[in-house]
Amino acid sequence: MIASVLPTYNRAPLAFVKGEGSWLIEADGRRFLDLGAGIAVNALGHANPALVKALTEQANAVWHTSNLYHIPQQEALADRLVEHTFADTVFFTNSGTEACELAVKMARKYWYEKGAPERTDILTFDGAFHGRSSAGIAAAGSEKMTKGFGPLLPGFVHLPWGDHDALKQAAASPTAGAILVEPVQGEGGIRPLPDQCLKGLRDLCDQHGLLLILDEVQCGMGRTGRLFAHEWAGIEPDIMMVAKGIGGGFPLGAVLATEKAAGGMTAGTHGSTYGGNPLGCAVGCAVMDAITAPGFLDEVNRKAGKMRQSLESLVASHAAVFEEVRGAGLILGLKCKAVNADVVKAGYDNLVITVPAADNVIRLLPPLTITDAEIDEAINRLDAAARQVEAA
Ligand SMILES: Cc1ncc(COP(=O)(O)O)c(C=O)c1O
Repeated sequence: MIASVLPTYNRAPLAFVKGEGSWLIEADGRRFLDLGAGIAVNALGHANPALVKALTEQANAVWHTSNLYHIPQQEALADRLVEHTFADTVFFTNSGTEACELAVKMARKYWYEKGAPERTDILTFDGAFHGRSSAGIAAAGSEKMTKGFGPLLPGFVHLPWGDHDALKQAAASPTAGAILVEPVQGEGGIRPLPDQCLKGLRDLCDQHGLLLILDEVQCGMGRTGRLFAHEWAGIEPDIMMVAKGIGGGFPLGAVLATEKAAGGMTAGTHGSTYGGNPLGCAVGCAVMDAITAPGFLDEVNRKAGKMRQSLESLVASHAAVFEEVRGAGLILGLKCKAVNADVVKAGYDNLVITVPAADNVIRLLPPLTITDAEIDEAINRLDAAARQVEAA
């Protein structure tokens, strides 16, 4: 008999009843060190007092009114995002995949309004992940995500990772409209796009008039040590997808855009019942205030350096289990020689949570607020997990 919850997930045999900072606690009191942060969501840790305050104060005021009316918390969060980024304007969603939907619609509408409605193609890359909506799976294009769900939304050109000739040819096509890319592929196995490549993509877009859409759903909101990952490359996108960390655990996403790229999105062209609701935006403001506070990102960078160094030693001492450390800031991956699922499971046995990714990688996406002592403890527990895998 089918489970009462649609069985689309392979769930680990764990269930948590409480979260505190970098820790998740089961009903029997077992405390797990959380290096997954709900897949890069709990950027400020579990039950962060500033977020609990923002959410409960808003819950006691008003939960939902709809986008028929002004939502002051939404305007406050949009103002903060505009102040700290390339963007002139923001639309709020409830998730990353909804942000993908709008990014695609926005790019197509841009070209439609410019009198070039044939420029519908969006260039994407192997290993990409943009969510599970119809546009999201069509954008990523992998067989794993799309098989059985056709006909797929047309207008995506899938390019091999690192094939510059294929990319240049696709960008020069008269039907090309935009390039969509994650500055650091998350689900694809923590594969950072080198700064030079991101600059190259910006140049290519400028050369052909294409829009550059960045998916910073997983790598954004301070995770790489800058507010957004593309800042390291010194470039700006035209459109950017954000979610996960921006709500710190409350479902919230956003599309940020320049005035030019957003030009086609006039009243009535897009909407969402819940997107930008007062609860989510009140929390989002508190998250933005914490991440943009002086010194916060400096600390992320310092701790990321410490973690990376410790992980390099871990890999060196378990050469049969691990191959290399990947990533940037606190979006890190351990490429495994052992089966990644076995390493994740051994982590559970040793009370440390990691997240599997493609390419036989385990992801380490701790809360950005993880402490030095917790990093040391995380390495001890990963070391124990690796020894368990070696002994098996
Ligand atoms: C890069 C990226 N884009 C989009 C998504 C989809 O976000 P959501 O699961 O909130 O729909 C994810 C989720 O993992 C992601 O990592």
